[in-house]
Amino acid sequence: MVSDAQSRFLPYGRQTIEDDDVAAVAAVLRGDWLTTGPAIEAFESAVGVAVGARHVVVCANGTAALHLALETLDAPGSTVIVPSVTFVATANAARHAGMEVVFADVDPNSGLMTAATLEKALDRAKGRVVSAVLPVDLGGQTTDKTAIAEIALRHRITVVDDSSHAFGSRYPADGELIPVGSARHADMVAFSFHAVKNITMAEGGAVCTSNAVRAERMRRLRHHGIERDGARFTAGGIDDRGALPWYYELLEAGFNYRVTDLQCALGLSQLAKLNRFREQRNAVVRSYDAALAPLAPLVRPVTRVAGAPFWHLYAVLIDFAQTGMTRANVMRALRERGIGSQVHYIPVHTQPYYVERYGRTSLAGADAYYERTLSLPLFSSMTSDDAERVASALRDVLAA
Ligand SMILES: Cc1ncc(COP(=O)(O)O)c(C=O)c1O
Repeated sequence: MVSDAQSRFLPYGRQTIEDDDVAAVAAVLRGDWLTTGPAIEAFESAVGVAVGARHVVVCANGTAALHLALETLDAPGSTVIVPSVTFVATANAARHAGMEVVFADVDPNSGLMTAATLEKALDRAKGRVVSAVLPVDLGGQTTDKTAIAEIALRHRITVVDDSSHAFGSRYPADGELIPVGSARHADMVAFSFHAVKNITMAEGGAVCTSNAVRAERMRRLRHHGIERDGARFTAGGIDDRGALPWYYELLEAGFNYRVTDLQCALGLSQLAKLNRFREQRNAVVRSYDAALAPLAPLVRPVTRVAGAPFWHLYAVLIDFAQTGMTRANVMRALRERGIGSQVHYIPVHTQPYYVERYGRTSLAGADAYYERTLSLPLFSSMTSDDAERVASALRDVLAA
C-alpha cells in the first residue's frame, strides 16, 4: 500500500498556512479596515523588529518594492547592474524606473553575483552613468555584502538588495551574523512575500532602509504621490488649505502600490513562525544533503557560501550530459512520481526583450549555472521523509 505521505504531490515550493493564519485574516474581514488600516503599520513595525531595520515600507509586491526603491534615486536614463540569474522582475523594476540594465555574470556553482563579476560588469558599463547595483540573494544564500558595499562606495553607486528569497537569512560581516534587511551594507533592501516565499502575504513586498527621507518618499509614491502632511505642502496649493480637513496635495505622479490589511494580517501571523519555518527547512536541507551525497559528482547541491541562509530553494546542479537524460525528461519523470521541480532561472540576459534592447551577450557563469540547475521541492511543511522520497526518486530516474 502507498501511504498518503508517499503519494502526495510535492510542488517545488508552496505556502504553509495554518488555522491561526486563517483566523487572523478572517478577523480583519470582520473589522472596519480592509485597506489603509492599522495592520499596515503593525506589519511594518514587526518586520522592522525582526530584521533590525529602521524604516520599513510595505507595498503590493516585491517588484513594486524594487521599483519604489529605484524611483527614490531620481535617475532615469542611468544604468543599473543586475545579475543575470534572477527572476525577470529585478531587471524589469529598473526599466519601470526608466533605467538601463547591464547584466552581471554569476558564480557558475552558487548562481550568486560576486565582487569579481560585479567589477567586470562595471567595466562593461564604462562610459555610462551607473546609479545602482541590485545584488540578488539567490535561493536564500546571500551575496558578499561587505565586498559589494566597498565596491559601491568606490564607484559611488547605490546598493538595492533584491532579497526576495532571503527574508530571515543572515550574512557574515564584522565578525557577526547580520539579518538581511537591516540595511547595514545596502541603501535599501527589497523583499517579496509572494505565495511561495519564506513567509507569505499571498502577494506583498517591502523595502527596508535606514534613510528616513527615502522611506517617506516611498510611502508617498506607494499612494499615488499624495501628501497629507501639512509640513510638506508646497506653495502651489489652493488658499486656506490648512483649514480644509479633506485637503491633500499631489507632489508627483506616483503609483497605487498599496497593500491591504488582509495581506498584512496574514504577514503578521506568518512572521511569528519565521524561526520555526527556518528550522523546518534546515532539517529538510540536511536530509537532502545526506540522501543526495551518494549521487555526487553527477548531482550536487549549489556551492554553499558563508552565512546562515533561510533556505528558500533547494537547488542542485546536475551534469545532464553525463546522465544521458535531458533536464525536461528528468522533470517529467519526477512529476510522474508526484514530485514537482523548477528551474531558477533562465538567465535574464537571454530573454527576447533584453536581447532586442541590448543585443545578444554571453555570460559564461550564468549560462553554466543555468545548464545544470534544478530546484527540488522545499517548503516549510515538508518533512525529512519527503526529502528522502525525492532523493530516492531522483536516484531511480537517473539510473533508469
Ligand atoms: C529574485 C526575485 N526578485 C523579485 C521578485 C518579484 O517579487 P513579486 O513576485 O512579489 O513581485 C521575485 C518573485 O518571484 C524574485 O524571485
